[in-house]
Amino acid sequence: MDDVAIVGVGQSAFTRKSGVSIRELCFDAFKEAMTGLDLTNKDIDASITCSAPEYDKQRTPSGLISEYLELTPSPAFYIESVCSSSTTGLRVAYSLIKSGLHRVVAVIGFQKMSELSSRDSAERMGRGADIMWEAPFGISMPSGYAMFAQAHMAQFGTTVEQLARVRVKNASYGAKNPKATYRKEVTLEEVLTSAPVATPLKMFDACANADGASCIIVASADVAKKVSKIPIWIAGLGAATDTMSMSGRKSLTSLSCAKDAAAQAYKMAGVKPQDIDVAEVHDCFTISEILAYEDLGFAKPGEGARLVDEKQTYVDGKIPVNVDGGLLSKGHPVGATGGSQMRTIVRQLRGEATEAQVKNAEIGLVHNIGGVGQYGNVVILRR
Ligand SMILES: CC(C)(COP(=O)(O)OP(=O)(O)OC[C@H]1O[C@@H](n2cnc3c(N)ncnc32)[C@H](O)[C@@H]1OP(=O)(O)O)[C@@H](O)C(=O)NCCC(=O)NCCS
Repeated sequence: MDDVAIVGVGQSAFTRKSGVSIRELCFDAFKEAMTGLDLTNKDIDASITCSAPEYDKQRTPSGLISEYLELTPSPAFYIESVCSSSTTGLRVAYSLIKSGLHRVVAVIGFQKMSELSSRDSAERMGRGADIMWEAPFGISMPSGYAMFAQAHMAQFGTTVEQLARVRVKNASYGAKNPKATYRKEVTLEEVLTSAPVATPLKMFDACANADGASCIIVASADVAKKVSKIPIWIAGLGAATDTMSMSGRKSLTSLSCAKDAAAQAYKMAGVKPQDIDVAEVHDCFTISEILAYEDLGFAKPGEGARLVDEKQTYVDGKIPVNVDGGLLSKGHPVGATGGSQMRTIVRQLRGEATEAQVKNAEIGLVHNIGGVGQYGNVVILRR
């Protein structure tokens, strides 16, 4: 049903050290999202700001961002689900528009991580796991995903070379993305010899912390048709939550929150995995992209790594994935990431992704995960 559309998308550059405040990062993203739209700030009748807390001293950043972007007096909401915050924001925006309460909603995601060292950041992110029984004993994002990698290797024989090929692919596209943190191709050898982080994951198997913001302008059908030349319709939405504790998980070779969210989104959109022309998946680590191939139904369980071996997830393959460089190249300013993924898919469906355009892309998918597989959001978009 064509009733809620994305009409504008924007992103600041993602960098290791922006040197600017969160309001300026958000302004960059907002400005790009509004470019070419027949809309003014006053037409935006609600805004949703999304980020992970505890990175910035600013409390309730929604009010600050609303003032800086001149969105007052419209209501300003704040949403967080760690790394999936901005796709959770999109879900709320969709609901606000479907309910008839609002007609145009701006979803603004941001994170400024450069004020903390990667070590401090890992501790903060570890607090996204159970802080009584697990985080103090070493569960952090890298160690949690390393457990998934170990389990996948033990159960299916996946190799470190196969993991490394995900970074090689994504770096080849990151090199073409002017807004990515790392704009350089890498070799298999460079990935395999990079510094160990949590066995078997090495530095190049990981995304890097970054500063950045994203913005998505969502509108009801009547507004969308008036203000945008090519509205991109929200065809399917899925969301699910798995146990906070890793010990509560039924599987370590799959994220059930992603599988459940994907099933809901496919059903709502009336499409199957083979109908997806282009996808953005949450490759916070190389293993995460392989789990995503399987959880989304692009490959059977245990066979995900073969897709990248056979180059099926390159731009001219069967199912192109992360052809903007993914989190691995772009960097991962956690609250901004989902919005950046949606920007990529919207640009693909509008035929504007000159750096790595998938031919005749009509249906795209975004897979965005929060925590160590706790929160899963899947969004299906249609031209
Ligand atoms: C991989 C990781 C542990 C490296 O941390 P570190 O060893 O403390 O490294 P630093 O942040 O001090 O950076 C040192 C250098 O390595 C580079 N670097 C850091 N992480 C990198 C990565 N993932 N890929 C490539 N280069 C990276 C930095 O750019 C920096 O280079 P420079 O000296 O040329 O500026 C850290 O990036 C990390 O924790 N990543 C995962 C983030 C995460 O878990 N996010 C949430 C996922 S859901």
